[in-house]
Amino acid sequence: GLVLGLEGTAWNLSAALFGEDLVALHSAPYVPPKGGIHPREAAQHHASMMKEVISRVLTEPERIRAVAFSQGPGLGPSLRTVATAARALSIALGVPLIGVNHCVAHVEIGRWATGFSDPIVLYASGANTQVLGYLNGRYRIFGETLDIGLGNALDKFARSHDLPHPGGPVIERLARQGEYIELPYTVKGMDLAFSGLVSAAQESTAALEDVCNGLQETAFAMCVEVTERALAHAGKDEVLLVGGVGANARLQEMLGVMCEDRGASFAVPERTFLGDNGAMIAYTGKVMLEHGVTLSLEESRIRPGYRADEVAITWRTEPGD
Ligand code: ATP
Ligand code: FE2
Repeated sequence: GLVLGLEGTAWNLSAALFGEDLVALHSAPYVPPKGGIHPREAAQHHASMMKEVISRVLTEPERIRAVAFSQGPGLGPSLRTVATAARALSIALGVPLIGVNHCVAHVEIGRWATGFSDPIVLYASGANTQVLGYLNGRYRIFGETLDIGLGNALDKFARSHDLPHPGGPVIERLARQGEYIELPYTVKGMDLAFSGLVSAAQESTAALEDVCNGLQETAFAMCVEVTERALAHAGKDEVLLVGGVGANARLQEMLGVMCEDRGASFAVPERTFLGDNGAMIAYTGKVMLEHGVTLSLEESRIRPGYRADEVAITWRTEPGD
């Protein structure tokens, strides 16, 4: 059987079918005409593209065993649009509904795509920046941003210089042509903060390429420090990088070097599975279905603040559990 997965927590409306392998994937990214993502406009985009995106993957409706959707975290209006479509599909097809935590799905598709079994995960996306690891039936959050996500920090800096959205890839390109400049580094215990760094970068009078370089080096070094400490603390030997910022070659390089120093393995899933995508929801939904984790309609309300460590990971059992 197949599981249909629906993702749309933020900018990307995406649907996929997962069986033994990925069977179909179709996405309709929302590109804001100007500035950052406006929650209501993103939801309108999702609503207007829903029929197209779903019909592209709904080729064999009779083989679908469940409908999985991103229940949270994410933008309220986008989550509502996706949940409504998922409920309707589940009723129409007469199959159960599965509520997937978006962060957990990033981790699970990352493990599937890389073959890693028990990694420390740096999850760096627009809205989220967390260091996670499996312990006693949960993905524990060892450290996370105290203010904004790394991707949003990069996007915010880019916007202040009238660079196009998303800013991450543009900053990466500029940083390659620049020299390092020092900017404020903020790690508090195991947590991170990016807004002071972004403000200082915005106020810097150095050349834009140099500011981009300093911004990346500083922000990434903060992430690597927390990841390294989580790795040592948890006694694991794999590091997995997921989330849209994971596409950054410099971040990959810095994590790779740290892992080599520690004798740990490092991997990044291929691009398709790195940023938001329907495959991660379909895949996690399939694993959850196999372990009998489904949702009644009454339980299917959206969860904008849903955290990874609220999910009981019943589909993983590790030695020592
Ligand atoms: P989440 O809901 O998990 O927070 P998201 O909606 O932010 O996810 P993602 O696709 O995971 O979506 O990440 C998008 C972010 O990734 C954007 O902020 C973008 O600037 C950033 N990004 C994409 N490519 C790069 C890159 N090469 N370097 C740095 N950042 C990048
Ligand atoms: Fe995401």
